[in-house]
Amino acid sequence: MKKIAIFASGTGSNFQAIIDAVKAGCLHMEVALLVCDKPGALVIDKAENEKIKTFVFNPKEFETKVSFEKEIISRLQENDVDLIVLAGYMRLIGTTLLNTYKNKIINIHPSLLPSFPGKDAIGQAYRAGVKITGVTIHYVDEGMDTGPIIAQRALELSGEETLAEVGQQIHEIEHAFYPEVLQKYFVEKD
Ligand code: GAR
Repeated sequence: MKKIAIFASGTGSNFQAIIDAVKAGCLHMEVALLVCDKPGALVIDKAENEKIKTFVFNPKEFETKVSFEKEIISRLQENDVDLIVLAGYMRLIGTTLLNTYKNKIINIHPSLLPSFPGKDAIGQAYRAGVKITGVTIHYVDEGMDTGPIIAQRALELSGEETLAEVGQQIHEIEHAFYPEVLQKYFVEKD
């Protein structure tokens, strides 16, 4: 069975959705490790509840990105990780990790890329008044939310929703869509 590491910096609702899909038998992967760059983030409690191994680090305690990415790589190798799944990991991946895990790093982003990359994509789309937004799952390259697109799911808006309502609908899509795409593209088609 393919082993994945989930990288996350925050709440970890997508982390939990992937774990739940594995437990429900809908996703045939093993979550071998959580990598978190924010000591104290809620996702760490979720991993501990689920008895998932964690590697939590503070980037400020390393001299360079190369040095903490080398440390991440040694943890990934110790745990035989095949695929890196970013789920709200709010940091650009550097060449050290990209070169070691070529085409094996994927990300979820809460907009229809290439529109609204970067932080607060849901707010950016809401303020722009778009009538269709959605979720993108893509391969990671050195840019900000720029790698080749794997799959997208659209959400139509009436314009009557509050920002909080749009956020809730986007997250509902993410929680179903990420496990589905992982299963379809990285288990069944692999
Ligand atoms: C998710 O909405 C994810 O798409 C987004 O961060 C959120 C993390 O939520 N990622 C990005 O914006 C990447 N550019 P979570 O911690 O509850 O899974």
